[in-house]
Amino acid sequence: MMKPVRKAILPVGGLGTRFLPATKAMPKEMLTVVDKPLIQYAVEEAMQAGIEQIILVSSRGKSSMSDHFDHSYELEQVLLERGKTDAYKSITDWLPEPGQVTVVRQQEPTGLGHAVWCARNLIGDEPFAVLLADDMILAEPGCLSQMIEAHRDLGGNLVAVEEVPHESVDRYGILDVVEDDGRIARANGLIEKPDPDSAPSNLAIIGRYILQPDVMAELSNVRKGAGGEIQLTDAMARTLSRIFFRGIRFTGRRYDCGSKEGFVQANVAFALARDDLREKVKSAIREYCDD
Ligand code: UTP
Repeated sequence: MMKPVRKAILPVGGLGTRFLPATKAMPKEMLTVVDKPLIQYAVEEAMQAGIEQIILVSSRGKSSMSDHFDHSYELEQVLLERGKTDAYKSITDWLPEPGQVTVVRQQEPTGLGHAVWCARNLIGDEPFAVLLADDMILAEPGCLSQMIEAHRDLGGNLVAVEEVPHESVDRYGILDVVEDDGRIARANGLIEKPDPDSAPSNLAIIGRYILQPDVMAELSNVRKGAGGEIQLTDAMARTLSRIFFRGIRFTGRRYDCGSKEGFVQANVAFALARDDLREKVKSAIREYCDD
């Protein structure tokens, strides 16, 4: 019988160099879209999908993230005393259960594959999810929920994919597709950041994965790949001959919050999706655009 996906790894150990100076003294994953940090959106998406254990792979100077998932007793007390019930709920309602969030350290930022590998002792012999908090997805149900449902039937390795413009393929892991029904694409090859002229497709892996424990084992063997970093794509590629590898086109819209323009777009889109902000934000945008 297929084991359920119970654990999710959220790698948050990167340097966030594209977002300097904002990320000089604060983690990229604590940047806020409207009024919530990126990391909270990702944890909520994982919990909505039924994930029981969240593993943050963090690094030095990022303790604000673990604090965000803890009580803030002084603040909670003051809000209660002042009768600010909504504000109180906004910092307590979504707190994970005690022990549900674990933090491990990636001592050096040597790539996504290495970050995932740092969680190996907590994963054991089970399939697991990986969520990159800076890829934000506006979707209902959440992207990981859609993936877990599809994975129940399909098994294997399953990643979220999106068709990207031909000239942008060199920013992504790209699938070499052998079968495609318009929603699910099966691949027999994977290439990290290919040259647009030699890319096998424009179907790009974005920051959501469901992986078999074999990928974790392969990460131990992978040597440094493109860009001098240990690549998750290389480890996934090594399992292609024995484990089905599929991409799923999810329903929803993704925002690359690791880039400035994607981050601004996410703020606009998430504000417009909220009943309390839509009209005010719309008229403000119209005003700016008329200038
Ligand atoms: P990015 O490619 O966005 O890298 O990583 P980055 O270092 O955070 O940002 P830039 O490119 O310098 O601006 C994708 C995800 O993988 C994590 C990041 O925190 C991000 O969530 N990551 C990356 C790690 O956890 N460790 C690493 O060594 C590299």
